[in-house]
Amino acid sequence: MKGNGKVFLIGAGPGDPELMTLKAVRLLGTADVVVHDRLVSAEILALAPRTAAMLPVGKEPGRHPVPQEEINRLLVRLAEGGLTVARLKGGDPFIFGRGGEEALELAKAGIDVEVVPGITAAQGCAARAMLPLTHRGVATSLRFVTGHCRNDEPLDLDWAGLADPRTTVVVYMGYGQIAGIAAHLIAHGRAPTTPVVAVADGTLPEQRTLRCDLASVANEVVAAGMNNPVTFFIGEAAGIELAPAAVAPRLRLVEPPAEAVRA
Ligand SMILES: C[S@@+](CC[C@H](N)C(=O)[O-])C[C@H]1O[C@@H](n2cnc3c(N)ncnc32)[C@H](O)[C@@H]1O
Repeated sequence: MKGNGKVFLIGAGPGDPELMTLKAVRLLGTADVVVHDRLVSAEILALAPRTAAMLPVGKEPGRHPVPQEEINRLLVRLAEGGLTVARLKGGDPFIFGRGGEEALELAKAGIDVEVVPGITAAQGCAARAMLPLTHRGVATSLRFVTGHCRNDEPLDLDWAGLADPRTTVVVYMGYGQIAGIAAHLIAHGRAPTTPVVAVADGTLPEQRTLRCDLASVANEVVAAGMNNPVTFFIGEAAGIELAPAAVAPRLRLVEPPAEAVRA
């Protein structure tokens, strides 16, 4: 082990600070330096010690101001300097979060690393939108897929498996690709009427939730003016409305209260 430093790869959850684990909050409070993603909210960052250095290394679709290799090197360098580093990531570090790559680089460099799981977007958004991810007799399997491939290569997903009518498909990073994803699923046998829920800014006060179907989702998301981060839920379970407003029609956009919308 080099030096005395350590890196905590911490899942910050999907946005609502109350969805962080006690362990995440406790370890964040011990950090000398916080290396954080773009989707980690100011409220969560405020849980770091006042004395901690805050280093944003956030990426957004198509824009990576600090390349991943540089983030890896930065983490190694900070820990080699004897610092306690909180590497704070949205959701869970090991779900579409490149936490595995960072942990590998740290391990190669002989740095002590500990991973603290976080509530992933699928769980947080589904809970807040009141949709079950699995449901007895309706959805017997659950798949998390990426809607975005490395270097913008074409998506190469297991379309036949994802078209299984008893599978709930959760699409991360699919905002720009949802038209193609829906077309592939329909071409592989998924019904065009399959319910879809799109959740933007899930678990935050400004959360927006759109209920539609596979045939219309690409148009509806644009018409609703939804923006990243968006997570899509595709499957019969997404059509089960548990909220008291369950009488509403299939196509419905739930707007946040006006005071919650970001300026
Ligand atoms: C790079 S991935 C990171 C996923 C993260 N590690 C997790 O476990 O949730 C970013 C994608 O996660 C989803 N996402 C993250 N936070 C979200 C939120 N608050 N509301 C909706 N989707 C979210 C979106 O699909 C977004 O494009």
